[in-house]
Amino acid sequence: MKEVPVILFGVGGVGSALLRQVVNGRSTLKSRNQIQFNIVAITDSKTMLWDSAGLSDAQLLEAVAAKTQGLPVDPVHRTQKPNHRVRPSELEILQQVTQANLGSAIFVDVTAANGLEPTLSKALSQGHSIVLANKKALAGDWATSRDFYNHPRLRHESTVGGGQPVIATLRYLLDVNDPIYQIEGQLSGTLGFICTQLDAGVPLSQAIAEAKAKGFTEPDPREDLGGMDVMRKVMILGRMAGWSLEASDIEVESLYTPDLAKLTVPQFLEAASQLDAAMAERVAEARANGQVLRYVAELSEGSGTVGLKPIPANSPLANMKYISFRTGFYNDEPLLIGGKGAGVEMTAAGVLGDMIGLVREQ
Ligand SMILES: NC(=O)c1ccc[n+]([C@@H]2O[C@H](COP(=O)([O-])OP(=O)(O)OC[C@H]3O[C@@H](n4cnc5c(N)ncnc54)[C@H](OP(=O)(O)O)[C@@H]3O)[C@@H](O)[C@H]2O)c1
Repeated sequence: MKEVPVILFGVGGVGSALLRQVVNGRSTLKSRNQIQFNIVAITDSKTMLWDSAGLSDAQLLEAVAAKTQGLPVDPVHRTQKPNHRVRPSELEILQQVTQANLGSAIFVDVTAANGLEPTLSKALSQGHSIVLANKKALAGDWATSRDFYNHPRLRHESTVGGGQPVIATLRYLLDVNDPIYQIEGQLSGTLGFICTQLDAGVPLSQAIAEAKAKGFTEPDPREDLGGMDVMRKVMILGRMAGWSLEASDIEVESLYTPDLAKLTVPQFLEAASQLDAAMAERVAEARANGQVLRYVAELSEGSGTVGLKPIPANSPLANMKYISFRTGFYNDEPLLIGGKGAGVEMTAAGVLGDMIGLVREQ
């Protein structure tokens, strides 16, 4: 049995699902993989729970239950919720791992935070492993992000495709030296939902409000509508393919106009009806040509676009969250990975799969 210490940054939707999957899957992990994950630390933005020997399953599930009620992971801070960070910084946590003499650990970043790069870099240089669902470290400027690519101890299956084996497939294509010519896909479940609402004649502002009400968008829907998350995903794939892309190489179409950027969220939702007429015109034009609008990312070496594109309404791709790779082997017909959109359980399963893969390969 291999006992592996794990440090978890982030106990939101994905982090909580991961902890439940680790706890509920302990016996399978033991019998199938001969692995025991000792969750040494779990952190949210402000607090931390730590036990060098591994937190008990009861502690982990209790922390998950607390987070669903909006409470901190550390029970000590539950009566008076801190409004600033009361835990050690990420770099101090790494130092604590070294001082506790835990050996090689897996650091898991399932936050949406910026700024973890120095900790992740240092952890790698000290022989630890990393699993990311957070795209930020991989999607920064190339000079900072390049160290995180093609590293044998870093996995990030859930950064693109939310658990569908997109990264694993691309890694396989690269391993067998199949040149990547083009990457294309519908990479946002939220924008996919909005587009199908537009097909049905729903005004854009109403489709946005509905997506928000169903919990499909970020708290500020402009984070989805601006297209940056899709840009980050396709940039990660392009960089894996060997293209040293910067964000400025990818043209991104935002689904809201710049004048709406400074409004508060309620003001934005109110003002979004200004966008309806222009969008309805585009939808009607596509429909007249037997097409529907989809938010598509397209990338080749050196440049790409992310934005609305008319595609044939009867194409299977009109109703699928997919990613395709046009390569040397898959040139006439691209290799297609498609299916259900992401959810926290599938995303967490992708993280767990990466954790198991890292242990297996060592
Ligand atoms: N949700 C999905 O289906 C999905 C799919 C693919 C990828 N992802 C990616 O997975 C990541 C997590 O998504 P999510 O839906 O779980 O987000 P979430 O529910 O917003 O959870 C984020 C968690 O990270 C914590 N956090 C923020 N800054 C931190 C820091 N510096 N150190 C430690 N913890 C910190 C937050 O703490 P507080 O609770 O204190 O705020 C919260 O617990 C994101 O990067 C997202 O893009 C998500």
